Amino acid sequence: MSRFGSMIAACAAVAVAMPALALAADDAKRGADIFENRCVFCHTPGGGGQGPNLVGVVGRRAGSIPDYAYSDALKKSGLVWSTATLDEFLSAPGKLVPGTWMQISLPDDAERADLIAYLASLGAKP
Ligand code: HEC
Repeated sequence: MSRFGSMIAACAAVAVAMPALALAADDAKRGADIFENRCVFCHTPGGGGQGPNLVGVVGRRAGSIPDYAYSDALKKSGLVWSTATLDEFLSAPGKLVPGTWMQISLPDDAERADLIAYLASLGAKP
């Protein structure tokens, strides 16, 4: 490749990488709005709501916060929350974990993806 050609290739790579980063941040931002509207009623990010704390939920075993009284169904589900298991759970909680007390589903694929990007951005439990 000529020098000029490889310069163009390098610029193109940067141009492709930048919107991808911006996109992930946008997803999480839209996800934060969905969380505010649909989840905060029971899951405050800092804990103390009707539902368990979701900070650090990605990578965590389902039903594993020690001081939260989960249903037996969720505690014994053997699930680990990943973006994939969260996606399945949030599209129909009672289908993945029959008997769970978590009833709120998010049927819209795009909304779910944004919300999970937000949950992942909440990082490790403080
Ligand atoms: C009406 C209250 C309520 C709302 C609203 C709600 N949840 Fe829940 N959620 C719960 C309860 C209660 C549990 C515990 C379920 C159990 O023990 O079976 C739970 C559990 C969960 C878990 C499993 C956590 C763990 O530690 O294993 C996730 C993930 C979750 N909810 C995500 C969400 C998301 C995302 C939303 C918004 C779309 C949401 N929930 C909205 C009540 C709620």
